[in-house]
Amino acid sequence: MATRTQNRPSSRSSSNRSNSSSSSGNTTHRSAFSWGDGAGPIIAAALGGAAIGFAANYGRKALMQGIKAAAGDWDEILTAEHDATLALFDKMLATDATQTFRRRMLLTKLCYSIDKHAYEEEMVVYPALREANETADADHLEHEHGQVKTFIYELGQMAADAPNWLEKVREFRDLISRHAHMEEEQVFPRFKDELTEEQNARITSMVNRDGFWMA
Ligand SMILES: [Fe+2]
Ligand SMILES: [Fe+2]
Repeated sequence: MATRTQNRPSSRSSSNRSNSSSSSGNTTHRSAFSWGDGAGPIIAAALGGAAIGFAANYGRKALMQGIKAAAGDWDEILTAEHDATLALFDKMLATDATQTFRRRMLLTKLCYSIDKHAYEEEMVVYPALREANETADADHLEHEHGQVKTFIYELGQMAADAPNWLEKVREFRDLISRHAHMEEEQVFPRFKDELTEEQNARITSMVNRDGFWMA
């Protein structure tokens, strides 16, 4: 069993990027990115519009992130997402074949929920597991994420009133439930027990950040 007492280098740090600002003092050189005077107002307007769009999106994301960040440590965040996803499955299983619009709407919500969750795990938690020499668990879990994508594909191909729609959703839910159980009961607690407080906080921060960008 590997020990994890040393600080791990962050593979995501951008602080060591050098900013090679020029100090040549050459005032006659025109950058390839210089525009003529007439383009100035147009560019300013475009940048202003982009800034407004960014601010609106940032506000929406900040709101969602604020809700999620209150959930606690990375494993608690992911467990809450498991619960929310399973609740969506239960809503799908409560439909009948006449409710095709509701089925499609719930499937869309499910895809969004699973996409965001998978991104957080595949970009942060599973790499951290591999870094801690728990590669077999990480690979097993990531392989199951592939099976999840296949279920999403298959349900997307099916008519929402297909006779086997509920059966397919039930099989899908079983996979997600088993997968979540393995993460919550075995892999996450064992991994968390071996993390330092600083490592735990860093993983929480990274899960929050990736969830933020997927929100
Ligand atoms: Fe997972
Ligand atoms: Fe998960």
